Amino acid sequence: MTSLSIFLSLAMKPIHGQQQQVPCLFFLGDSQFDNGNNNLLLTSAKANYPPYGIDYADGATGRFSNGRNIADYLGFEKPVPPFATARGSDIIKGVNYASGGAGILEESGIQLGDRISLDRQLLNHRLTITRLLLLLSKQSSSVYDYLTKCLYAVNMGSNDYINNYLMPHFTQLVVYTHQTGLPQELAMYPTNGSPCVDFINNDVELFNDRLKSLIDSLNTDLPNAQFIYINITSISSGDPSVIGIRVVNAPCCVVSRRTGQCAPNQVPCSNRNEYAFWDNFHPTEILNHVTASRAYNATEPTDAYPVDIRRLVQQ
Ligand SMILES: *[C@@H]1O[C@H](CO)[C@@H](O)[C@H](O)[C@H]1NC(C)=O
Ligand SMILES: *[C@@H]1O[C@H](CO)[C@@H](O)[C@H](O)[C@H]1NC(C)=O
Repeated sequence: MTSLSIFLSLAMKPIHGQQQQVPCLFFLGDSQFDNGNNNLLLTSAKANYPPYGIDYADGATGRFSNGRNIADYLGFEKPVPPFATARGSDIIKGVNYASGGAGILEESGIQLGDRISLDRQLLNHRLTITRLLLLLSKQSSSVYDYLTKCLYAVNMGSNDYINNYLMPHFTQLVVYTHQTGLPQELAMYPTNGSPCVDFINNDVELFNDRLKSLIDSLNTDLPNAQFIYINITSISSGDPSVIGIRVVNAPCCVVSRRTGQCAPNQVPCSNRNEYAFWDNFHPTEILNHVTASRAYNATEPTDAYPVDIRRLVQQ
């Protein structure tokens, strides 16, 4: 699993089964958060066909997992709509801008096809703000005041590694991420017995270390916002059998050799809660649940910095 997560909040937050703690939620990111934004794009990074969504109530929605993704577990009972289809008052409780294959760098993921880069997700958020101003027909100051109570979650950077820097013809400019033994990378690089591809993880860790000081600077420079960093390396380390996961180096679904994503309409494994990976890139619902739970309520001191989401939203 790979990801960079920053959570930004100026108030409170939510998780399933808990009382709603923030009035609105905005998700920016890649396939780990995408809940349908790629469905109408021309790209191979799509998940709106079976067996994706096999454990999700609405079936294949464009979520890159068998069931709920991390954004779903962090979110409200009813998920916030994807930007692609959000209409009218839907947007008051938030919007999901995430796009599979997208990166921080504009060109990351280009070989997969269309995707909505971080910059363009931010432009889409600007559109949402314009719509909120019309919808709430309020003074801009009160809309901005409302937005300061929202939680923003950003989960991005994997594709700047996997689908850019680590590609045979990568462009320069290193960006970030975490990673732990993606089946796709394990198939591409020798690991000398390690469950992970160490050189990738080392590169990623370099970035993450710098990210931590960036969080400090942002918190100092932007006192009206609070930033936290979720350490996926920490969350995904430890013995997965504790949560019942027995297979960490192979996907549950039958993957296409070309894309590493699930091949359409093939029967996946039935013991999905025993697998860490759903396809070659994306965690199963159970792992998404654990990641979201620990991001919210850290079990190790290294899981979140400087605080976890629970503490962030209490402040
Ligand atoms: C993330 O957690 C790991 C422990 O699992 C730790 O070694 C690493 O330094 C942490 N990274 C950051 C950027 O805090
Ligand atoms: C946070 O996790 C601990 C166990 O690590 C648990 O005892 C506690 O009830 C949890 N708190 C919340 C608010 O979920």
